[in-house]
Amino acid sequence: MSELAPSILAADFNRLGEQIKEAGSTGTKYLHIDVMDGLFVPSISFGMPLIESIRKESDMFFDVHLMINEPARYLNEFAKAGADGITVHKEACGDLKNTLYGINKLGLKTAVSINPETPVQAIEDVLDMVHMVLVMSVHPGFGGQKFIPGALEKVKWLKDARKEKGLDYKIEIDGGVNKSNIAEISQNGVDIIVAGTAVFGGNITENINSLKEVL
Ligand code: DX5
Ligand code: ZN
Repeated sequence: MSELAPSILAADFNRLGEQIKEAGSTGTKYLHIDVMDGLFVPSISFGMPLIESIRKESDMFFDVHLMINEPARYLNEFAKAGADGITVHKEACGDLKNTLYGINKLGLKTAVSINPETPVQAIEDVLDMVHMVLVMSVHPGFGGQKFIPGALEKVKWLKDARKEKGLDYKIEIDGGVNKSNIAEISQNGVDIIVAGTAVFGGNITENINSLKEVL
């Protein structure tokens, strides 16, 4: 069964702690945290101080998605702020292997992500270094976009590669997930499904329960 990872990018930041507690009280394990630098992606979201603050409020798994250039510069700081897992983009790293090695060395779950236009084969040589692969199903930078179906072909390739190579990384999908497509995404064997707008737009508990019902 797939797990749901609510993305706080769509939360009401004025009531962030409260909303995270509500999401956690539904029994949801993962919390997806989108960090944007205004360079790798057009928008800027938040950084270490915010993660440090919400860490005090929540024992959920902090799935930190770094949409920043050369994330190797900040791995220590995100670890200190309370990340449980760090995802870096293949497209943002000059030396991807060394960056993944750095996350692993900090004792965190290590993950790599690819943008919609990046072929999945581009990360074949690091699959044995990661705990998770995040397939972007929208162009990174904003919540509330439409799901790009090509992402599911990448999921299929990743599942086949995982079997062939005898690896056990998890596969995560991020962007454009809602009540009408979550069943299909889950049936494709995605382990972790990120949802921002579909969770935080409206009643959080009701939204999570109805998404989980479909799963
Ligand atoms: C996009 C972010 C996503 C985003 C998903 O750059 O990586 O995690 O928050 O938002 P929705 O679910 O609204 O598409
Ligand atoms: Zn994300």
